[in-house]
Amino acid sequence: MFGFHLVFLIFECFSVSTFKCYSDFERNRNLTVTKMNTELKLSGFARFAWFVLAYNIVVILWGVVVRASLSGDGCGQYWLTCGGEVVPSAPQMKTVIEFSHRVTSGLAFVAVLVLLIWAFRKFAKGNLMRKMAFASFVFITVEALIGAVLVLFKLVALNPSMIRAFSMTAHLINTFILLAVLTLTAWFASGGNHPFSIRRRGKISWLLAVAVFGILLVSASGSLAALSSTLFPSATLAEGLAQDFSETSHILLRLRVSHPILSISVGVFLIFLAGWIKSKAKESFWTNRWANVLTVLVGVQFLSGALTLLTLAPIVLQLIHLLLADAVWIAFVLMSANVLEEVSSFTEAEFPVKAQISLGEV
Ligand code: HEM
Repeated sequence: MFGFHLVFLIFECFSVSTFKCYSDFERNRNLTVTKMNTELKLSGFARFAWFVLAYNIVVILWGVVVRASLSGDGCGQYWLTCGGEVVPSAPQMKTVIEFSHRVTSGLAFVAVLVLLIWAFRKFAKGNLMRKMAFASFVFITVEALIGAVLVLFKLVALNPSMIRAFSMTAHLINTFILLAVLTLTAWFASGGNHPFSIRRRGKISWLLAVAVFGILLVSASGSLAALSSTLFPSATLAEGLAQDFSETSHILLRLRVSHPILSISVGVFLIFLAGWIKSKAKESFWTNRWANVLTVLVGVQFLSGALTLLTLAPIVLQLIHLLLADAVWIAFVLMSANVLEEVSSFTEAEFPVKAQISLGEV
C-alpha cells in the first residue's frame, strides 16, 4: 500500500523542484502513513476493484496489438467461437493473437461480473457501490457487443470503411467510460468518500464537462489516426504528411492531422485547469496530488505523441501512447472526483460560504 502512495510522491517530484521534493517527501510520508492507518485502509472489495481496473487496462493494450498486427480476422467471422472451434486446433499467429484477446477480454468480463456479485452481497440495497458495479457491468457488456459487431461484420484487418471507423470510435469512447466507472468504483470503495453531485457546482462543473468532452474528442481522433496508420502505412514521415494533405487521399488519412492539433489544444486546457483547481483547492491533499499527476502525464503524453509521429508509430510506442492516454483519463477522473467530493460534502445551506473558503470562487 505504501508503494501506491510512493507513486504519487514520485509524480509530485516531477512537478516541484528536487530540493522541495526531498523535504516534502518526509512530511508527506508521515501524512501518508497517518492517512493509511485511518482513512485509506483498503477492504478486500476495494483492492479487487483496483485490480479489475488494472487488468482491464492490460486487455485494452492487447487490443492495440490485435489492430496493429492486422489480426482482427484471426478467428474468422465467428463469435463466440474462434473459426467454429472453442479452442483453435491449428492456429496461425494472427489466430493466436485474436484468440488470446478474446480469452483475456472474456476474463475481464468475468472479473467485472464478480465485482457486481460481490457489491450486491456486501452492500445494502440502494448503496452507491451497487450502482457503480452495475454501471461497470453495463459498459463491459457494451464493450463485448461492439467487439462482436467488429468481428461479425468483418470490420477488422484491412477494412477501410467509414462504418469501421465509426465502430472503432464508439469502441474507444465506451472503453474510456468503462475505465471512468471502474476508477470511480475503486475510488468510492477505497475512501468511503461521500457521493458527489455535479449539479449546481457552477463554473467548476462546466469546466470539468468541457474537459471530459475534450479528452473523449482527442482520444476518438487518436483512434482514427491509429486506424489510418494501420491501413495506409507510409515509408517515411514526408510521405505520411503528403498523404495527409493530398486531396486524393482516403478520408481517414485527411482526418489524421486533426489529432495533434486537437490534443495540443485540449492538453494545454487540461494543464491550465489542473493549475486553476490547485490554486482553488489548496487544502485538499488528494485533489492537489491528482492535479499534479495530470499535469505531468499530459506533458509526457505530448512527448510520446511527437515521438510516435516522428518514428511512424512502431507498436511499442503505440502501446505506450495508449497507456498514457488511459493514465491521463484516470488521473483526470480522480482529480475531478476529489474536487467534486470536496464541494459536495457541504450541505446546501453551507455551500456558498464553505465552498468559497475551501475552493475559492468556483
Ligand atoms: C493529451 C494528449 C493526447 C491524448 C489523450 C492522445 C490520445 C491518443 C489515443 C487514444 C490514440 C489511439 C491509440 C490507439 O488506438 O492505438 C492516439 C493515437 C495517436 N496519437 Fe495521440 N494523444 C495525445 C497527444 C498526441 C500528440 C501531441 C501527438 C503528436 C504530436 C499524438 C500523435 C498520435 C499518433 C501519431 C497516433 C496514432 C498512432 C498509431 O499510428 O497507432 N498524440 N492518441
